[in-house]
Amino acid sequence: MSETHKKSHQNKLISVVHGPNLNLLGQREPHIYGTETLEDINRELQILANQHHYEIQFFQSNHEGQLIDFIQQQKDSAGFVVNLGAYTHTSIALRDTLLAIHKPFVEVHLSNPKSRESYRHHSYFEDIALAVCSGKKSASYYEGFVFLVNHLKNHLS
Ligand code: DQA
Repeated sequence: MSETHKKSHQNKLISVVHGPNLNLLGQREPHIYGTETLEDINRELQILANQHHYEIQFFQSNHEGQLIDFIQQQKDSAGFVVNLGAYTHTSIALRDTLLAIHKPFVEVHLSNPKSRESYRHHSYFEDIALAVCSGKKSASYYEGFVFLVNHLKNHLS
């Protein structure tokens, strides 16, 4: 691959990372998280990505180390949309990964953790994220994706 080609590909790939228990969306506490499955959300994000002429890839894991490994490996990604589930409130390790790779990312949540139990109020990511989109169920992801795309369009040639 030529250097120019490689560069344009790097500028065009967005990685969406879903953390623990998000594989259960649709059946998991639908009054809090909505009725859409992860597949539904990924399908909608794929459509949005096509409309914006971006490539998109998806990764879900229930394991902190696998999430860390995946994020570390995404040298070709221009940016990330992340919902790290409960790791949002616990994982200094994932925070360190996102700091280490120097790529823009948006934090998203289906629910609004700030209006829930106090142990969900703190996020290890909000101060280093471009933006936090929460409380809109699946629409939080779509809002987060568009926010990231607009950022990338304004900051990359
Ligand atoms: C969540 C909120 C977290 O507090 C929770 O642990 C999740 C999902 C959300 O999308 O609303 O697993 O990230």
